Amino acid sequence: MANGLLKGKHGIIFGALDENSIAWKTALKIKEEGGSFTLTNAPIAMRMGKINELASLCHAEVIPADATSEQDLTNLFAKSMEVMGGKLDFVLHSIGMSPNIRKGKSYGDMNYDWYLKTLDISALSFHKVLQTSEKLDALNEWASVVALSYIAAQRAYPDYTDMAQAKAMLESVARSYGQRYGTAKKVRVNTISQSPTRTTAGAGISGFDVFFDFAQMMSPLGNATAEDCANYITVMFSDFTRMVTMQNLMHDGGFSSSGITQQMVDRLSK
Ligand SMILES: NC(=O)c1ccc[n+]([C@@H]2O[C@H](COP(=O)([O-])OP(=O)(O)OC[C@H]3O[C@@H](n4cnc5c(N)ncnc54)[C@H](O)[C@@H]3O)[C@@H](O)[C@H]2O)c1
Repeated sequence: MANGLLKGKHGIIFGALDENSIAWKTALKIKEEGGSFTLTNAPIAMRMGKINELASLCHAEVIPADATSEQDLTNLFAKSMEVMGGKLDFVLHSIGMSPNIRKGKSYGDMNYDWYLKTLDISALSFHKVLQTSEKLDALNEWASVVALSYIAAQRAYPDYTDMAQAKAMLESVARSYGQRYGTAKKVRVNTISQSPTRTTAGAGISGFDVFFDFAQMMSPLGNATAEDCANYITVMFSDFTRMVTMQNLMHDGGFSSSGITQQMVDRLSK
């Protein structure tokens, strides 16, 4: 049931590749709640993905941008303000990619050019998004900016390799930029740390099914789905969370606070 939570709000959604993407589900939810937005993704994802399908479902304009390119981001924010007829109220950064993970490199055999690419695409891009929007004065007061993180920022996971550092940096950018932007313009900046979710990026991690099942057993509520995440992001873009900023918000069915669960005890004592 729609509640008009985002009625009259305008924004930008990064990272909808296909119908499994967290950004895809979020776009549909925001539309349902009365928000409007432009959609963006890297030029290569335009060719591989289905973003135009989503754009027609949401009556949204697609503006390609490589999130590592300041020039592309400047163009994206300028055009989005033009399309939306003014400043913006929300931005979703739903971007992650590690060439080392893609090529199956172990943590003891990192290619450092790719490592830097991982950090640039998955973390520094968040700073670039925030800095570009501030320079263009593209966000209204009380605007909300959210990026998606994972608990590997705090805990070690063998196959998450250089993405763990990217997520730690992403969360740190949210704190530092959140402080700056909150003081200057009352803009809030947060990360949401999401459960393992079956998407192109998620399934790219080797052993994904195992840690999906592990998290499922260790979470009293079970894993949060992409739809659950879309709902949470929508609330974070609404006026009901105006005083929340500089936080890394756990959205994981209780996983991060569980030592062990009865389900896991039962499973291991078999
Ligand atoms: N799937 C999971 O298990 C999970 C868990 C926690 C957090 N996350 C995070 O959620 C976010 C969204 O991922 P997803 O799971 O929906 O997968 P996804 O593969 O659908 O989305 C990742 C997106 O990043 C985009 N991208 C890659 N390089 C880019 C660039 N240079 N410029 C612009 N966009 C670029 C891709 O085109 C894609 O649309 C990521 O930050 C991911 O790390 C995912």
